[in-house]
Amino acid sequence: MWNKLNSMTMPVILGGVVLSRRDVVTGIDIGTSNVCVIVGEIASDGSINIVGVGTSPSGGIKKGIIVDLERTVEAINTAKSEAERMIGSKISEVSVGIAGSHVGLINNRGVVAVSRDDKEITEQDVERVLNAARVIALPQDREIIDVIPREYIIDGYDGIRDPVGMLGVRLEVEAMVLTGSMTSLRNLLRCVEIADCEIESLVLNSLGNGEICLSRDEKELGVFLIDIGGGTTEVSFFQGGGLRDITVLPVGGDHITNDLAVGLRTTFQLAEKLKVEQGCALREMASEEAKIEIEGISGRDKRVISPHELFSYIEPRILEIMQLCSQEMARMGYNTIPPGGVVLTGGVSMMKGIAELAESIFDGPVRIAQPEYLGVKSPIYSTAVGIIHYSLRNNTVGRPKATDSKMGFIVALWKRFKAFITDIWE
Ligand SMILES: Nc1ncnc2c1ncn2[C@@H]1O[C@H](COP(=O)(O)OP(=O)(O)OP(=O)(O)O)[C@@H](O)[C@H]1O
Ligand SMILES: [Mg+2]
Repeated sequence: MWNKLNSMTMPVILGGVVLSRRDVVTGIDIGTSNVCVIVGEIASDGSINIVGVGTSPSGGIKKGIIVDLERTVEAINTAKSEAERMIGSKISEVSVGIAGSHVGLINNRGVVAVSRDDKEITEQDVERVLNAARVIALPQDREIIDVIPREYIIDGYDGIRDPVGMLGVRLEVEAMVLTGSMTSLRNLLRCVEIADCEIESLVLNSLGNGEICLSRDEKELGVFLIDIGGGTTEVSFFQGGGLRDITVLPVGGDHITNDLAVGLRTTFQLAEKLKVEQGCALREMASEEAKIEIEGISGRDKRVISPHELFSYIEPRILEIMQLCSQEMARMGYNTIPPGGVVLTGGVSMMKGIAELAESIFDGPVRIAQPEYLGVKSPIYSTAVGIIHYSLRNNTVGRPKATDSKMGFIVALWKRFKAFITDIWE
């Protein structure tokens, strides 16, 4: 998304560095705990520098779904203003992340005859075959939001990644069709528009995370990426270079906070603070001597507990999340961990001891991933920074028409829906 800044000529001054205001791209991750707005500047060599960061607690989102429009818009505005202050100008166009909880996956196949007389496969043939894969019966409340090709097959020869320029008579595609509930998606897009942003592209959060958290080798060999956020845990499986499956579990860091608040009879705020500052996923890592002081609720006396007691509330919940992930992996057809292992990201992956605990459950290598950019070196920023990377890599930004973008269909649909509503009211 080339920001509207494009058209402006004044340079941006950031910490003494003058930015050319051109080639600025903004990603928004609207999560259950945090809304993150990240602005990336594209350097002349194509690399990205992060020049603006804004975050705000969400409030209006439950398990990845918007339940309070006003609070969500407020959070987007707060995060956006913070990022705007950093870059010194307004953000007007954004790439928006879509949580996996909005999305369902259907595998489908499309077939077309190659159109040119010399039988060279063109981009138009690829577009036609992807459109053919869209032909699918859906319930009324769901819409197709994207079609991701798994592999192309030319005259029976499979495993082809990019068929353009090759020769053949019959072109087939094995594709993953992403479908979404229109109601929740429309609400998401509406919030972004009320916050005065034009939607340039939509990116599935898992695909954004994959850009930042996974190496090319991991994606090729097979890897599970687990994003543990505040309200949801998103398990994505990548293999053969692309996303193969996703599933979203309605559990996350908020459940740990809730367990602590109930178990230790304290407020959510204090439970959250204890979790973030002193929490650990492994009881055996607790020091014998240390003591933790806990404020009582409504003027009750302070209490002192051992780290072992604190960790004993955290460990079972994280264990449960990992076991649920493990069940999902088995459902996807993996009873053993693929060669790329497991990669954790999202806010909860910052919990001490989580990688060790995960390794004992998955019986394979586990690592924590985060963006390696100054100012956003935290797993809570993986999705927003990934959205920028994905949009740029897939040319879903900077194109003349949103309908050209990978998720442009839903953006176009949203625009049509808006025009329809406007027509009704005028
Ligand atoms: N150091 C830490 N240790 C443990 N948990 C943490 C830490 N820092 C943040 N968290 C937790 O991470 C969660 C927020 O993570 P994140 O920002 O990735 O979620 P989100 O993207 O807003 O939510 P979701 O992806 O579920 O919609 C919160 O539950 C928070 O308490
Ligand atoms: Mg998230």
